[in-house]
Amino acid sequence: MNGKILVTGASGQLGALVVDSLLAKVPADQVVALVRRPEAAAPLEAKGVEVRFGSYGDAPALAAAMQGIARVLLISGSEVGNDRVGQHKSVIDAAKDAGVELVAYTSILRADDSGLWLAVDHRGTEKLLGASGLPVALLRNGWYNENLTGALGQSIESGAIIGASGSGRYSPASRADYAEAAAAVLVSDQPAGTYELAGSESFDMAEFAAEVARVSGKPVAYADMSEAELKEIYLSAGLPEVVAHMLADSSAHAANGDLEASGATLEGLIGRKSTPWQDSVKAALA
Ligand SMILES: NC(=O)c1ccc[n+]([C@@H]2O[C@H](COP(=O)([O-])OP(=O)(O)OC[C@H]3O[C@@H](n4cnc5c(N)ncnc54)[C@H](OP(=O)(O)O)[C@@H]3O)[C@@H](O)[C@H]2O)c1
Repeated sequence: MNGKILVTGASGQLGALVVDSLLAKVPADQVVALVRRPEAAAPLEAKGVEVRFGSYGDAPALAAAMQGIARVLLISGSEVGNDRVGQHKSVIDAAKDAGVELVAYTSILRADDSGLWLAVDHRGTEKLLGASGLPVALLRNGWYNENLTGALGQSIESGAIIGASGSGRYSPASRADYAEAAAAVLVSDQPAGTYELAGSESFDMAEFAAEVARVSGKPVAYADMSEAELKEIYLSAGLPEVVAHMLADSSAHAANGDLEASGATLEGLIGRKSTPWQDSVKAALA
């Protein structure tokens, strides 16, 4: 793989890790980072990569950003509820107009039949990619370990990890694992395809709470409730409606197995087991 690789969302947590993983595989002059905020450029430039600017939706900026690019990683936008499909379309259109040889996209596990509300935008984007006629790599990422470990302080304080997933199992991996997998696909000789990516181990929320209790030494248990009750708690904690809905919906669909999958494809791409979820719990509590 000799051409330039453009990573969108490079100022984000996943994007920055993809840039790092690419730098371990190809020379820095092959990696281009797309950001939308000028202040996001410096940390990426410090890594030796070229930074280009453009927001999703800004067609002229995206057209300029695509010049000389062979492969694009479109990292799904983070503005849930704000026409993400339209935003992604602008990137796909620019990539097509520029004649890139591949677009990789960070989608969600089994996007075509997932019940998650989050999957709706990903299905819409996957359809656009299919219709574009471009060679496409669908990186259908499972849950992040970090989604589960992000608010452990509060859980320990209250003694409860709340959810609506019952005994549904999660197979998450760390952001760094998904980033490494994305880089492996981006530099691959035959990158096009659909990759269902999940962690090597699965567990339910009662097991997760038991591990948090063990590592923290504090009494923490899993409190299961209805999706409506969970959403109400998120709303009363001040989360915006769309975020409360997204979180409660995702938890409820985990009860049906929508966030459980085999870790084999991810392991194949990164050449090792995914980061143990117990390590992520430990890191979050350190
Ligand atoms: N599978 C999962 O469990 C999971 C969990 C969380 C998120 N996700 C998805 O995966 C993506 C990457 O995750 P992450 O942890 O890296 O999220 P993140 O840290 O919030 O990063 C999101 C990135 O997308 C950029 N971005 C968002 N909207 C944009 C727009 N309209 N135009 C240009 N850039 C835009 C952000 O730019 P700024 O820095 O300027 O904001 C940032 O670089 C998320 O955006 C979300 O779609 C998946």
